[in-house]
Amino acid sequence: MKEPMLGMGPLLCVVGARPNFMKMAPLLRALRARDDLPPVVLLHTGQHYDARMKDQVFEDLRLPEPDIDLQIGSGSHAVQTAEVMKAFEPVLDRLQPSCVIVVGDVNSTLACSLVAAKKNIPVAHVEAGLRSFDRAMPEEINRVLTDQLADLLYTTERDAEGNLLREGVAAERIHFVGNLMIDSLFDAVPRAKLPEDLPPSKSGFALVTLHRPSNVDDRDQLRHVLDLIGEVSERLPIVWPIHPRTAGNLQRFGLHVESRANPITMLPAQGYLSMVALLRAARMVLTDSGGVQEETTALGVPCLTVRANTERPITVEQGTNTLVGTDRELLLSVVDDIIANGGKQGRVPEYWDGRAAERIVGHLSSWLRAGAVGATQEALAAATPS
Ligand code: UD1
Repeated sequence: MKEPMLGMGPLLCVVGARPNFMKMAPLLRALRARDDLPPVVLLHTGQHYDARMKDQVFEDLRLPEPDIDLQIGSGSHAVQTAEVMKAFEPVLDRLQPSCVIVVGDVNSTLACSLVAAKKNIPVAHVEAGLRSFDRAMPEEINRVLTDQLADLLYTTERDAEGNLLREGVAAERIHFVGNLMIDSLFDAVPRAKLPEDLPPSKSGFALVTLHRPSNVDDRDQLRHVLDLIGEVSERLPIVWPIHPRTAGNLQRFGLHVESRANPITMLPAQGYLSMVALLRAARMVLTDSGGVQEETTALGVPCLTVRANTERPITVEQGTNTLVGTDRELLLSVVDDIIANGGKQGRVPEYWDGRAAERIVGHLSSWLRAGAVGATQEALAAATPS
């Protein structure tokens, strides 16, 4: 494991895409609240850049504007990853950070970890060890590789440690700290506000979020998913904030969703405060997002995951999540059970308590200090005549 270098350079916090922002906001605040740590620099790769995907979410999370914006934007996986790497390298050369902190599993997470690791700069990965065991998911490749590169691996659930140990990660690098996503969630709940353009509904509504390539990039699969949502609208009104990837594909394929007995309200991508309000108000949530599976478990709202697998099994084992994939019978039977009986009851997992940032900063500061002490002792030993 590489040695940290306290006092030698800033802590460089990296974000790229929307789900990174929720994880970094509480951590950045906790790091900057300490006066015994190196300065903290926030870098945004620019993977998500438009007002709805970035600016509104930054504002809702009270995230300050990034100190550095690489403005990479969209592209194929190879192009996006490579562009982040090319732009990130000179930043590392200039700043010489003591540690690069990455979160989650997006292309920016892997790209920045890879550049830092090859420059011998320690990498801390927050949300390490989650596995869907599905390499067709681009995020799974990002997770596995980032965890191999990282020096410090902070996990959100205990199963993650087993996954990492099986991949040969040394136990002393793994630290169970809880879930930063839930720090942000609990912070936002008192400020959450429903969007104004929501039609009133006595029966409540089902909230839909979909953006995984496996659901929305293939025309037939997307059409099948739209049919399922149409069927759910026979039972409940639907509210569906549309992710730009999904919006683009609906347009490209010339597809649209047909409502049945109840309206389907399509909204543009929402800010964080309005999303949290929608999650709390929903009778159920249909999603393929990882973060939404966690948020619904923490809020006790029934969640149907429209995927064959999840890298967050704790939300199924302990929380309110049910994996339904795109199996029509199963999906509708779970929807009907929620309408009739309230659905699956869950509990909030260990350390999903709003204090994950505190635990990470506590650990990181002692790790940095231990490295500095080690370095000082080495320097002393070298300077002492034998
Ligand atoms: C990315 C992450 C995914 C995460 C998701 C959350 C990877 C591999 N994927 O997927 O893990 O769950 O973010 O949103 O890193 N676009 C805009 N505005 C933006 C950004 C993107 O309109 O601000 C459009 C572009 O047309 C782009 C498409 O959305 O091509 C997809 O963006 P991209 O960053 O490639 O992946 P996401 O699907 O957002």
